[in-house]
Order: sequence, then structure tokens, then C-alpha cells
Amino acid sequence: MTPHAPESHDAPWWRHAVIYQVYPRSFADADGDGVGDLPGITSRLPYLADLGVDAIWISPFYVSPMADAGYDVADYRDIDPLFGSLADADTLLERAHELGIRVLIDLVPNHTSDEHVWFQAALDAGPGSAERERYLFREGRGEDGAEPPNNWKSIFGGRAWSRVTEADGSPGQWYLHLFDDKQPDLNWEHPEVIEEFHSILRFWLDRGVDGFRVDVAHSLVKDPELPDWDERAVMAGAAEAEAIHANLGPMWDQEGVHEIYRGWRKVLDSYNPDGDPTQDRILCAEAWLPTQRRTMRYVRPDEMHQAFNFHFLETAWRPTDLREIIDASLEAADEVGAPTTWVLSNHDVVRHASRLGLPIGARRPNGIGREDDQPNAVLGLQRARAATALMLALPGSAYLYNGEELGLPDHTALPDDVRQDPAYLRTKDTDEVETGRDGCRVPVPWEAAAPSYGFGPGEHTWLPQPEIYGALALDRQDGVSGSTLELYRAMLRLRREHDLGVGGLTWLTELGGVEVGEQVLAFVNARQDGTPLTVVTNLGDEPVALPEDAEILLASGRLEDGRLPQDTTVWLG
Ligand code: GLC
Repeated sequence: MTPHAPESHDAPWWRHAVIYQVYPRSFADADGDGVGDLPGITSRLPYLADLGVDAIWISPFYVSPMADAGYDVADYRDIDPLFGSLADADTLLERAHELGIRVLIDLVPNHTSDEHVWFQAALDAGPGSAERERYLFREGRGEDGAEPPNNWKSIFGGRAWSRVTEADGSPGQWYLHLFDDKQPDLNWEHPEVIEEFHSILRFWLDRGVDGFRVDVAHSLVKDPELPDWDERAVMAGAAEAEAIHANLGPMWDQEGVHEIYRGWRKVLDSYNPDGDPTQDRILCAEAWLPTQRRTMRYVRPDEMHQAFNFHFLETAWRPTDLREIIDASLEAADEVGAPTTWVLSNHDVVRHASRLGLPIGARRPNGIGREDDQPNAVLGLQRARAATALMLALPGSAYLYNGEELGLPDHTALPDDVRQDPAYLRTKDTDEVETGRDGCRVPVPWEAAAPSYGFGPGEHTWLPQPEIYGALALDRQDGVSGSTLELYRAMLRLRREHDLGVGGLTWLTELGGVEVGEQVLAFVNARQDGTPLTVVTNLGDEPVALPEDAEILLASGRLEDGRLPQDTTVWLG
């Protein structure tokens, strides 16, 4: 019953780091325009140091027309004025490093913005030009090329192809965009594309970043035949893939992507020639794939360092499912020698405080609208706290999403006319409306009584905040025993003190001499030469007796006469 052995205390930082995702639009607004910015992030770094995170990952801050909230990059070597300047980025990096926080940035290699100089040059240069070779331009099918080159659909709804108008005003070629039409896909068979991204990596490594989160890492290479694909193309993890019978399409997970990342790894490793484990710069893959094994191919020793564990995020709140996914994650990562990662929330999914308040086993929505069945907020938060306490006791690296330490739910009643997600905008007038991801991207509340709950000096925020964000604001939880914020602080402190990130995991079959029931998860996380920590999560409706001699280090919720109630996790010393 030992699925994972402990690692050395000196293991490289990224094998056990807690990495906090900052969504720059929504974290902190220094200039009062209603959108978060880099000076805002810098001003809150002491808070993050105190929270106890090892690193931050900042979603895109580059020059962008913001058709997909910055995941449409027009200039990879500069900051969008909305967020600040390169000097602000340098200050942020410097301050973070002073505080002992590493910084990962978001790299978007699958597509550029249509406003990127390369795409503009491609439009100007016309069919057959070298400029068009950097993207996936093709002639249309049918009479006058009026039909797209194949039947692929965009992930955000509608077609994955758009037709351009050539310089002489005639309808021209088509270009591929797996996402919005303002996000043309690059041609990764082109040596200039490879070179350009090596140069972009160096640009930011030279400025001192500690690594990159790689956007849609599994999509860069497409089947060269660009064959028709009748299924819906989705960014699907296991649960989703099963629900819609999606297979891997010719746009995902092609063998050629791995060569690209081997090249990137060499660039990163050249910044740490002595192999000092504290100096590693890292790559983390965002790759939504149906199986753990496929995902782990991105973190073989000469490729990336980490890949997001979306399988864990998608697992239903049931003891057998959780246990199976924990075992499978550890096993698949151990096979390639990579660390496991864990994640419950990010800017693309319904926050887990809301998601876990939906009926167990229901299909995971990508957003919740005011007309939809609303999550049970109390239950959602209780489970979210129990789930995070389970997650942060597991060995490996863990990702947190800004605001989850306050127990923030999604805004589940946003008016449709404020929605900005292209997935909503592209489908709102169709039969398959996607609510979109705006609900998890609402600005973070810092002070209950201040304008915009302390997000910035102004009243206005780019997405409206729900009233509950006032009650959950940071200043309402700071120093308050039992608050979600204090729970996160305690978890991160104990995780560090007990080296949980490099511990070994052993499942328990009994607790204090009593057999562990089917509805209970119980394991020991033990470091190589330290005191083991016992973790128990109760998912059943019968409270569970805890061993009498156990010291309760932490509990995600109130105990009932010393017993562990449903949807609660404890850490025992
Ligand atoms: C990734 C990002 C998502 C973005 C998409 C296209 O999945 O996380 O926010 O919309 O890629 O770049």
C-alpha cells in the first residue's frame, strides 16, 4: 500500500513547490482603471510571501488586443500598457526574488494575435509568400475555394478557419485558428518559428524569470494532411473526453511536439550549467489529454519539468475516484521520474468552491450562468476546504489560483452583457451557447469596506464582483481563526515544516485500530527521516473517530465531539 516513496530533502525546488497563479487582470489594480496590473501584483507580493507560496505563475501580460484576455499575443517581448511596462516587470521580478518567490510566466506558442507583425506581414505578402508559411494558410475547398480547407471546429465554437481578403479585394486563402479568429495558429514545421521561440525564451530568461507555463502545449503540431475531423475538438481531460466520446483529434498530441520541447529544455538547461537544483528554470505543460500516461510523455527527463494534473481537477468528489486518481497520478509520474502536480482551480474552470457545490458526478461546466442550477455555496466551500487540505498534503508540486485562499466562489450570476470570454461571444447566438469562463475571473476582494472591495482605488472593475466577495474579502479573514485564509496559511506552513512535497505516501487500512471505511481516505505522508503526518478525509455521512493519541495539527472544518464529520480533512501528528 505504498504507491510513492519519499524523495530527498534537497530535491530541486519544482518537485515540491506550491505555485500560485496570478491572473493579472483580476489580482490587484494599482492605477484604478478597473483592470489589475503589474504594479498591483508587486504591491501584494509581501502578502504572497506571508501566505507561504514558493512561486507565482502570471497569466499573459504581453502586448495584446485582448481578444482572449491576453492569450492572443501581439508582441512577446513587451508588456501591454494595460498592465504596465517592461520596467514594471523587472521590478516585479526583483521584488519577488528578494522575497524568495520564484516567477513563472505564461508562454503562448500555438498561436499569435492576428495583430502580431508576422500575421500582418503574411496578410500583406499574399498567397505563396514566405510570410504566409509561418502560419497555416490553405486554399479553400469547393467552387472558388469558398469552403474551408477542412471541417475543424474552433474550441471556442464556430469554424476553425477564417478566410482573408487579398490585397486586390478578392476573397482569398483561409487560415487555421483552433481558438478565436484573432488567434491564428503558427506553423511549427517552420524553422523560423522554432528559432523565434528560442529567442523569446532567452529574452525572458535573461530578465530573470524562473520558468514558463506553456499554453496548450499539446496542439503545436498538427497532422500534416489536416484531415477532416468529425468529432468536436475539445480541450478535454479524461472525464470530459469520455462524456462526449472525444478521441484525440489530428490537432492534438502529435509526436512532433516532443522534439520542440526537447529543444526548449536545452535552452533552459543552458542557464544552469552546473546543474544546481536551486537554480533550475522550468517548463510546465498545459495539455488536456485523456490519459495520465499521454500527459506524462511531456515530462520525460529531457522534456518539460511539470504538467498540470487536470485529471485530479476533474475527479468527482467520491472516495474511490479520488484514491484511484491519486494512485494513478503518482504511478504515471514515477514511471518517467517526474513530480506529480495537483490543481483544483484556474482561470479556465469553475472555481472549486463552486464546482464542488454541484451534484457529484455532474458534467463539469465551463461556466455557470444566472439561469443555470446554482451550486450549493455552503457545501461547495466545505468540500473545497477539505479537497485543498487533501491536495496540499500530497507529495509533489501544487498549483493554487488567486482568490482560492479566500474560498472565493465563481460569480454565477453575471449579466450576459458584461461577459468577455470569446467562447461565449462566439456561441451566444447559436444553439450551443457556452457560458464561458468569466465567472472565475472576477477581481479579487482585499478590503470589505473599500471601493471595488480594495481591488483598486476606483469603484469600477472590469467584471462586476458579487456581493459575497465583500464578506470574503481578505481583511475579513486575516487573523480570524477558522477562516479559509488562515487555513491556507496553516497548510502551507505545515507542508513546508513537514516537507510534505517530498514525502512518501502510504495508504492506511486502519486508524487507531479501527478499520478505515470505504467512505474515508486515510494516508501517511512521511519524509525520509522525519515524523510522519497522517491525513484523513471523510466523504461519508458517518462521523469518523480519530485515534485517541493523535495530535490534530489542522482541520478543514469543525470536528464533532472529536470526530471527523463528512467532507472534512484533518492532518494528524
Ligand atoms: C489555454 C488558456 C486559455 C486560453 C487558451 C487559448 O487553454 O489557459 O485561457 O483561452 O489556451 O490560448
